[in-house]
Amino acid sequence: MDVREVGAEATHDLRRRVLRQGHPEAEVRFDGDDAPGSFHLAVVDQEGRPLAVATAVPAPTPRRPGRRAWRLRGMAVEPALQGRGLGSRLLEAVVARAEAGGAEVVWAAGRDSALDFYRGRGWSVEGEGYLDAGDLPHHTVVLDLAQGRARSVSGDGPQGRAGSPPRRPDPSGHQQP
Ligand SMILES: CC(C)(COP(=O)(O)OP(=O)(O)OC[C@H]1O[C@@H](n2cnc3c(N)ncnc32)[C@H](O)[C@@H]1OP(=O)(O)O)[C@@H](O)C(=O)NCCC(=O)NCCS
Repeated sequence: MDVREVGAEATHDLRRRVLRQGHPEAEVRFDGDDAPGSFHLAVVDQEGRPLAVATAVPAPTPRRPGRRAWRLRGMAVEPALQGRGLGSRLLEAVVARAEAGGAEVVWAAGRDSALDFYRGRGWSVEGEGYLDAGDLPHHTVVLDLAQGRARSVSGDGPQGRAGSPPRRPDPSGHQQP
């Protein structure tokens, strides 16, 4: 299994099956898919078939005004393969790629059912909950890369390799249940 860049169309099948309950009529093209700076990554099998997909789109967040931010969208892992590390591997690759492109922050509208996944990877859950994507409960999740770098430089905290996300939740008091 490999992580590679793919075209937006390669994400559509998993988006539909995992995020839109397989509805044939569901819109699986997302705003920003083709915007400058957007990219799509997939974990692929030996034949190049996507097993997990994610997209990142340059988009500011009011959670970090004035910071260069990418929004993670369409994070979806083949149902039979969930819970085996594919999502973690893909998320790490998305964050590294966004950071290489100049991102200071990566954020997403995270489904409440997936918040533990993000928390476990060092993201903070912020603000009030809201309904999105067919009335599912969501919270905004944020990975503050500049903060992770500052911790690495100062030695105040775990030492990740360059480009890796912080390994513990945001200690700044932003985190909420
Ligand atoms: C959420 C999702 C992307 C995680 O990817 P994954 O490959 O299943 O996750 P990993 O195996 O890398 O990591 C599993 C970790 O995530 C946590 N987790 C949270 N939600 C989970 C879920 N729905 N399924 C599996 N694991 C989940 C597990 O508790 C585990 O935590 P730990 O390693 O800290 O103990 C994937 O399960 C998925 O596509 N779910 C359905 C669609 C979805 O919710 N997408 C995100 C929308 S914001």
